[in-house]
Order: sequence, then structure tokens, then C-alpha cells
Amino acid sequence: MTPRIKKHYPPVEEMTAAERVGMVREVFATIPSHYDILNRIFSLRRDVAWRRFAVGKMRFGPTRRFLDVATGTADLALEAARQHPDVRVTGLDFAREMMAVGVAKFRKLRLTERIRLIQGDALNLPFPDHAFDVAGCAFGIRNMPDRLRALREMTRVVRPGGQVLVLEMHFPQHRLLQPFCHVYLNLLLPRAAGLVSRNPAAYHYLGDSILHFPAPAAFAGLMAEAGLVRVARHPLMFGICYLYLGWKPEDPS
Ligand SMILES: C[S@@+](CC[C@H](N)C(=O)[O-])C[C@H]1O[C@@H](n2cnc3c(N)ncnc32)[C@H](O)[C@@H]1O
Repeated sequence: MTPRIKKHYPPVEEMTAAERVGMVREVFATIPSHYDILNRIFSLRRDVAWRRFAVGKMRFGPTRRFLDVATGTADLALEAARQHPDVRVTGLDFAREMMAVGVAKFRKLRLTERIRLIQGDALNLPFPDHAFDVAGCAFGIRNMPDRLRALREMTRVVRPGGQVLVLEMHFPQHRLLQPFCHVYLNLLLPRAAGLVSRNPAAYHYLGDSILHFPAPAAFAGLMAEAGLVRVARHPLMFGICYLYLGWKPEDPS
């Protein structure tokens, strides 16, 4: 069934967590055909470089397994498979429509042996403890109202000594960039998306979700609260994007 297209979504702060999860599901069910191309255009192709940078920081150990949470169209999963040819990759997302685009991409690249995509919820990962060396999430966690739970789940499924990586967009802290980013997120992004997307309101939501994402120090604190240590933050492109990297303690006690 073709998903219903909304003309307007309420502001992020006015929704309950349950309403927000329902809306996020709807948003990502309606934008997969243009998601990749709009990502490239709106980020000036920086999104590709940011994922590449994140994957370059990954360190694999005994499991040789990577989990890509909120994999969407599987770009992080594909980059991990490309940079680490001996690693098996699992991607998880609740939007089948997004993952269908990913499946087509890795079939074309003949990577079906090493990547599998499964439908599931980041807040209840269907994997045993310590199953992966690395868990990552690119541009997904700001869509999850309960971010601490998502981080705890990622921490649970990596082995002791494993890594959790998060890539996320931010409203920049640099004052000179702020007016430009306001105009970009509130006006340019939804209008430009309206020219090609069946659901331009989805891009209103995406801009809004960036505006309401916690500041870098607060998000790094949440990673520590989830049980990760040596949490590092890497600002990218003047802090419009950040890579966060934390380690699960070797001895969790
Ligand atoms: C902006 S896309 C990011 C996709 C991809 N990781 C990338 O790098 O482009 C966000 C994805 O998060 C997924 N998502 C949001 N909340 C989720 C949840 N609780 N469980 C699983 N997937 C979720 C959405 O379905 C969507 O595909």
C-alpha cells in the first residue's frame, strides 16, 4: 500500500514520544526513492566523506562483525563492507522501504554474501550480548526519542572492548553560521525537497529534528551514561556534523 503523504507535521517538541515514532516511520516510508540523491545534494556530498571518516575509525576484533543501526539505504553498511573486506555486516531498520533501496545497491556491488539487512527496532535489538565488535548509527539517533535506550542497546550488543559510533547532524554552535543554517533548514531544504520528493513535509521534520538535537557535550554525556568510556567527539564541517566514538569497558564491572 502506498503510504499516506502528510502536508504538515507538528513541531518535534509538541509531540509525545509515541507520536514521534509513528511520524518517523511514516516519514521514512515515503522518501526512500529520493533519499540518497537529496542527501548528496543537501550535504554537498559531505555525507559520503563523513561516513567514510567514521568507518575509518572502526577497529575490528574477534567477532569480525559490524552492526549498522538505523541503516536506512545501507550507506554506512556498504562503506564498512568496502573498507573492511573481512568483516560481516548486519543492517537494521524499521523502514522496509528504505532497506529495499539498500538491498538493490549491495546486490549490484555483489556484496550479498557479507551484508544482511533485517527489519527491527533500535530500542530492542534482536541480538545477544557481545555479538559485534562495532555498532554504529549514522543520522538515525536524532529520530529516536529515547536516545539513551538506543545507546544502551548498542553498548549491550558489542563485545567488551568493542566500539559504539554515532554520526549525527547538529545545529552549529558557531554564531556566524547560525542564521544561514536557520534559513537553510527551515526554508531552503523543504522547498528544494518539494521539487522532487512526494513528501516535502518530511524535510521540514528533518530540519526540525536537527534544530532540536542536544548539543555535542550533552550527547557525549549520554554516551557515557550508556556505559561507554573514552568518549571522543570529532566535529566535521564546522560542527554541522559530529562523529562520536565510545568504547565498551573490557571489564564492565
Ligand atoms: C536519516 S535516516 C539515516 C539512514 C542511514 N543510516 C544513512 O546513513 O543515511 C534515519 C533512519 O533511521 C531509521 N529509524 C529511526 N528510528 C528507528 C528505530 N527506532 N529503529 C530502527 N530504525 C529507526 C529510519 O527508518 C531511517 O531509515
